[in-house]
Amino acid sequence: MMEKLAIFGGDPVIKEKLPTVDDASGRFFGEEELSLVTEVMKSGKLNYINGAKIAMFEKEFAEKYGVKYAATCSSGTAALHGAVIALDLEPGDEVIVAPITDMGTIIPILMQNLIPVFADVDPDIHNVDPTSVEEKVTGKTKAIIVVHMFGHAVDMDPIMDIARKYNLYIIEDCCQAFNTLYKGRLCGTIGDIGCFSFQQSKQMTTGDGGMIISNNDKIGRRLKLCVDKGWPRDGQFRDHLFLAPAYHMTELQAAVGIAQLRKLDSIIDSRRNMAKLLNEKFINDEMVSVPVEKEWARHTYWKYPLKINVSRIKADMDTLAASLKAEGLVCWAGYTKVPIYMYNVLTIPYTYGKSGYPLADGGYKYGEGLCPKAEKDLKEMLVVPFCEGYKPEHIDLIAKTIKKVMEYYKA
Ligand SMILES: Cc1ncc(COP(=O)(O)O)c(C=O)c1O
Repeated sequence: MMEKLAIFGGDPVIKEKLPTVDDASGRFFGEEELSLVTEVMKSGKLNYINGAKIAMFEKEFAEKYGVKYAATCSSGTAALHGAVIALDLEPGDEVIVAPITDMGTIIPILMQNLIPVFADVDPDIHNVDPTSVEEKVTGKTKAIIVVHMFGHAVDMDPIMDIARKYNLYIIEDCCQAFNTLYKGRLCGTIGDIGCFSFQQSKQMTTGDGGMIISNNDKIGRRLKLCVDKGWPRDGQFRDHLFLAPAYHMTELQAAVGIAQLRKLDSIIDSRRNMAKLLNEKFINDEMVSVPVEKEWARHTYWKYPLKINVSRIKADMDTLAASLKAEGLVCWAGYTKVPIYMYNVLTIPYTYGKSGYPLADGGYKYGEGLCPKAEKDLKEMLVVPFCEGYKPEHIDLIAKTIKKVMEYYKA
């Protein structure tokens, strides 16, 4: 007999809260973080420019990624903003970008008075499809921001070919992609600039925070200035070389970041091992497809995006998510629900007061229909939470929960 769902008063599958990235239960936090944070407190030097931890975090991150330049900042959005500032583009220049991402990828483009142009996705991996990217190149295109979604790499070789062909900068948004590999290379080191977020949900965290990396001498030397008021701190006299915000990380965050970075490999190993177990639960499942890992990629599972065969279920995705939540598994139907170009900021557009700048009068139109594959992809996507604190018994419970709910709604 079919089991009664918890949403209708049945017994929930998950009786004790699962480990989560939202608190210590799902994270690898320990004495290492505590001891470094304590050092900072004892030193009394807490801010961006005063202590040693920011410099140490930047040095260790640069070493880990094998790059010459690394700059800490206050968030992933700040990292992307700093990166876009570093390119020194002209107002009205176009930046090709992914439609499935966090708003933090788009905000820096608009803040620099640039125009976001959306390319459609390869729905297998939810990342931009290079063919669509090339179709969007115009005489005004100056850069591409690729987003390695959920921890899976974008197909970078064709993207780099496009960059060379049209002389474009490439920024890699790695806010969900720590230790992600593309053909054995770390994502974030393939284009001109890599950007990371240490916000609480990410594979490694400092609560909030960000990092910008580069191997390009011209850009790399500007990175710290781009998140520090354009202020060259080594100069004899105070100076501000160009317009840039103050997006500072603190020493306390950097202390946590150093400890987290040193654990990153074990965090990713744990996530990959648990994802493999979960993948195995759905082999040949007709209703659920597990995240694709292309042969050229190493997935690092920020979250675990399932594809639902919607033609096989007799409920909408929100009902599915609500039913899973009632069983004890908080999932999200459709990640951002709609592609990022369907939010007010772009559709109204609501940017600088009522001016609509820089989009108004430019003939730029955003709204439904722009990237049909991305729109369909989000309608079929169910995002399952993930963390390094999962054990095989949690994976069993997650699989059991999904199977119970899917079985109930099977068409
Ligand atoms: C792909 C992507 N880009 C940018 C951001 C922005 O990062 P933050 O929230 O740290 O500003 C995030 C984080 O949510 C993200 O997932």
